[in-house]
Amino acid sequence: MLSDDAFETRAVHAGRGDLAALGVHALPIDLSTTNPLPDIEVGGGSYESIATGGHPTEGGNVYARLWNPTVARFEQALAELEGAEEAVAFGTGMAAVSAVLLAAMNRGRGRHVVAVRPLYGGTDHLLASRLLGTETTYCAPDEVAGAVRSDTCLVVMESPCNPTLELIDIAAVVAAAGDAPVMVDNTFATPVLQNPLAHGAALALHSATKYIGGHGDAMGGVVAGSSEWATAIRPVRAITGGLLHPLGAYLLHRGLPTLALRVRAQQATAGELASLLAEHSAVARVHYPGLPGSDPHGLLGMQLRGPGAMLTVELAGGYAAAERFIGALRLFTHAVSLGGVDSLVQHPASLTHRPVAPDARPGAGVVRMSIGLEAVQDLRRDLHNALEAAQR
Ligand SMILES: Cc1ncc(COP(=O)(O)O)c(C=O)c1O
Repeated sequence: MLSDDAFETRAVHAGRGDLAALGVHALPIDLSTTNPLPDIEVGGGSYESIATGGHPTEGGNVYARLWNPTVARFEQALAELEGAEEAVAFGTGMAAVSAVLLAAMNRGRGRHVVAVRPLYGGTDHLLASRLLGTETTYCAPDEVAGAVRSDTCLVVMESPCNPTLELIDIAAVVAAAGDAPVMVDNTFATPVLQNPLAHGAALALHSATKYIGGHGDAMGGVVAGSSEWATAIRPVRAITGGLLHPLGAYLLHRGLPTLALRVRAQQATAGELASLLAEHSAVARVHYPGLPGSDPHGLLGMQLRGPGAMLTVELAGGYAAAERFIGALRLFTHAVSLGGVDSLVQHPASLTHRPVAPDARPGAGVVRMSIGLEAVQDLRRDLHNALEAAQR
């Protein structure tokens, strides 16, 4: 639970409470796939507890698909930063989304999901594919009340959305959802800028691959919520096996102490670049929550503590301009993903949002950027040159 300490302080110390007693200072990495058990009684009892969603008993970790202490420390840290009772970590963000959907259906309310568009292409695709047995109604943020049914097991939303950076009022969606639980993908905001549970969401989910790890070298997913939800989600992980590897958990946990510093520095740069982009004639529109007119519901400073470091532009020259723009950038790597220390650029309609239905897919001139920690004057020059190239 949230303590009085500032976010920065909690991010440095979260999930490290047992280290001093272990006589270590850095996070220990436990690579054991199996664990010696003191006797049959302890082994069996602990297995029963973990397999039904609980925690192991002392000395009874049993098997790494059921419990791993390195992963558990990362989960504890994320729960702390999201103001949640518990968190459950996975090998990827999509494994976390899948486990939440399976757990939500397993709670007995039904198999119907309401998905508030726009969503990350992978999540949108997972729901549209019906692969997990869900039935999905896609809707706009103000259509949630009409879309929710008595068999709706989950409402899925993001804010800021990928890739439009639209801000959606979490509390309004929660109110419209009634009894149906709301899961918010908090990947773009990070817990530095937004805590969905504080606005009534049942679950806050992250692709930890992004800002949480922050260095583009570890994949992971994590979902934070009540102990009741964690107890429902953990058995899904144990049964389906979408584990976070302890080396990944170590890297993701190591990202947390610098998370606020990184996000704030990247956000400051993104704000400056957004203004530059908005003034250039090659750009038809800039999507950035910090620009005037981008926050019609007044969520910035209330729900979202800062506009973040993701920037999306619509180039006036469409696909051809997007091709020239991306090709001319020197410091932005043309690559999917986001939230790392270096700047990335990608064309959502061709890549991250390719599987989305054509009527909900981003336009051909839309380009998404993740702003890194490079000096702002260098990124400004790079963007200016690429915008000139886009216009040729
Ligand atoms: C908002 C959002 N949610 C979820 C995911 C999926 O995460 P992962 O790639 O770790 O499975 C992504 C990946 O790009 C994302 O951008």
